[in-house]
Amino acid sequence: MTILVTGGAGFIGSNFVLDWLAQSEEHVVNLDKLTYAGNLENLQSLQGHCGHFFVRGDIVDGALVQRLLGEFRPRAIVHFAAESHVDRSIHGPADFIDTNIGGTFSLLEAVRAYWTGLESGDGARFRFLHVSTDEVYGTLGPDDPPFSETTAYAPNSPYAASKAASDHLVRAYHHTYGLPTVTTNCSNNYGPFQFPEKLIPLAISNALQGKPLPVYGDGKQVRDWLYVGDHCAAIRTVLERGRLGETYNIGGNAEKMNLDVVRTLCATLDAARPRTNGTYADLITFVKDRPGHDRRYAIDATKIRSELGWTPAESFDTGLAKTVRWYLDNAEWVAHVQSGDYQNWIEQNYGAR
Ligand code: NAD
Ligand code: DAU
Repeated sequence: MTILVTGGAGFIGSNFVLDWLAQSEEHVVNLDKLTYAGNLENLQSLQGHCGHFFVRGDIVDGALVQRLLGEFRPRAIVHFAAESHVDRSIHGPADFIDTNIGGTFSLLEAVRAYWTGLESGDGARFRFLHVSTDEVYGTLGPDDPPFSETTAYAPNSPYAASKAASDHLVRAYHHTYGLPTVTTNCSNNYGPFQFPEKLIPLAISNALQGKPLPVYGDGKQVRDWLYVGDHCAAIRTVLERGRLGETYNIGGNAEKMNLDVVRTLCATLDAARPRTNGTYADLITFVKDRPGHDRRYAIDATKIRSELGWTPAESFDTGLAKTVRWYLDNAEWVAHVQSGDYQNWIEQNYGAR
């Protein structure tokens, strides 16, 4: 048996592939374009593993996807591939439209043709799991109830709008063609192998280099934080037992203000690797806010808990401690990803502030 994973060289996708192969005999075909965010070093420990087959390719390329489906006959698709960084979507939205909307559309078309040709038993067992985000729901006020699966979509960034469009396509393919889909909408992930453009790995990397820790606006924006290993477990659960055509919200039970996240991170680093002069919190620097910055996200994960029995194993403190330890132990990984493109990005996003 085989599953096809898209975007399996990125942050969450590579964690998912590693977790999957550690627990299952089932093979993984990993289709990834290797954009700046895709990194084969994440999968280095799988070198020589007969259950992992990596293909460099674009999900927009329907002919390639059709060929892979015909050759490997997967019993499920787990679709992570996307442009995923909100700030990049503000500076240059076109890639987000191409991959997140166009790519998901091409993938759905190829999968529909493949699924239609499956024998009835295989067709009934087949799954298309679409990985999406809580950002499709827009922003919350301080006293609003958290996002549930019935919250109306109100995306505010080009990234969020492109993910919302992809969710709608997946929904339509289930409703119109009967494609056996499930969609997950989760909160902010953190953990090993996260590219240091997102808040937590950026702050760890900057702190260790004695650089400013940029906090957008007043730092009082709220996010829910989900350890990536918990997210991977939730996806496996939904793939196994999620109801067809349904969506499941996934959260970490960890609503935090950004400033508190950065302060906690500084305290964790102070304990693990003290600075010679001062504390890491001395590096916190308030910078210009993100345009259209959503104020608060929060997740109501009642549905996945009550229907499927999933809850996160990590608290924010335990997950963050593991994450900080991983970055301390993997300085070489960070040095390798901080390539020319990364330097250009830092200049573009933070240079004019
Ligand atoms: P990431 O940016 O780290 O990785 C994305 C991967 O997709 C990369 O390996 C990249 O090379 C690949 N990719 C991009 N365009 C492609 C294309 N056209 N064809 C094939 N591969 C392509 O992203 P991530 O943080 O791992 O997020 C994975 C998924 O989870 C995304 O769909 C994202 O929207 C969703 N998500 C992420 C978070 C989070 O906090 N990181 C939270 C909620 C949802
Ligand atoms: O909510 C889920 C989403 O979480 C995913 O769909 C996205 O793919 C993922 O990138 C993430 O989006 P965010 O915009 O929330 O993540 P980011 O790490 O970029 O920012 C987290 C918060 O921290 C956000 O409020 C912006 C703020 N921030 C971010 C950076 C990079 C700062 O204050 N300073 C920074 O330098």
